[in-house]
Amino acid sequence: MKTALRNSRGEIAGPGRQRWRWRSSPVRSASREECLFSIASWKLLLKIGDVSGVHVNGNEPQEFWTVGLKVRNLRADFGAEIMGLVPAFPLDEDTCKTLRTIFDERSLLVFRDLDIDIRFQTYLAEILSGNSVLDPEQLPVFDDFYVSNERPSSAAPFGRLMYHSDSQWCERQCEVLSLYGERVEQPAVPTLFVSSIVGWDTLPVDLRTRVEGRHVVHQHDAETYRKRAGGDADVLVNAINSMKNSHCTPIALRHPRTGRTILYVSQQMTRNVEGMTEDESDELLFALFDHLYEPGNELEHYWRQGDLVIWDNLAMQHARPNVQTEGPARTLRKTITPPPNREKPGIIEYSKAGES
Ligand SMILES: [Fe+2]
Repeated sequence: MKTALRNSRGEIAGPGRQRWRWRSSPVRSASREECLFSIASWKLLLKIGDVSGVHVNGNEPQEFWTVGLKVRNLRADFGAEIMGLVPAFPLDEDTCKTLRTIFDERSLLVFRDLDIDIRFQTYLAEILSGNSVLDPEQLPVFDDFYVSNERPSSAAPFGRLMYHSDSQWCERQCEVLSLYGERVEQPAVPTLFVSSIVGWDTLPVDLRTRVEGRHVVHQHDAETYRKRAGGDADVLVNAINSMKNSHCTPIALRHPRTGRTILYVSQQMTRNVEGMTEDESDELLFALFDHLYEPGNELEHYWRQGDLVIWDNLAMQHARPNVQTEGPARTLRKTITPPPNREKPGIIEYSKAGES
């Protein structure tokens, strides 16, 4: 069903640039798989060295081979699919080094048709986050964290998720996330991604000037969720029982591992710009959201069983259209790197923005 766009005040908004403010159903955009390589990627190719079978589109390759793996860019600016990985412990040093380099360059990796357990999923995420795993068998694993509309006690069991980075409201940063398609029936609702690194790199000069030295407060609260839902009754609202639910960061945040600059604001979790009135803050944040979530900036991953998607949670934001409890099974096994503090788990209550 097609529904009108509304802004945060419930007003009918125009199409196009304000699409992020109202999105209730999956929208397939034109394929961008004829991806182009950036200059940085060319440097990466040279650094990796062992490259053959490079397919050239114009002057630039869209896929190549390295250390026995086939790499295919999913978009010109971020994301890559890796083919040919054999999920065995331990991965050899060259493979680890190459995967880390591609991950830091592309921020999101997709592997398809994998049959893996939670230990390999955790291990690969640890490797990509830059950690040395001396003994994979000793790696702590948590096999009870799922995003699912059918599995009891799972996260985000229904509803639409607005763009965010996990735990953006926490001082303890969540660096790498992964989801594995354990049970996926079709048609499966996709996960959507945008890059906050690309968001910064392409930020117009006037906006860059306006955010210079500015800080924002990220907050995990139902009020911010409902405000940003803009009248979309399907938006999932999380209420977490925690005393500490906000965190202040620069808008231009330095990535701790890569040193790149992140445009670190999100639709779901960034409450306000410090030192501004609410109207001034909303005006600036909405201008940044219009830039970040501009149509054409998204990567839509349509799930199949056996898919593994691993992404840099600081460099990327994720979202999804509405998931229905009675819809096709969508059970995604999740890992978080580093693992969250599980001594005092917060109790999360889920509701929809349309429920009072
Ligand atoms: Fe999330």
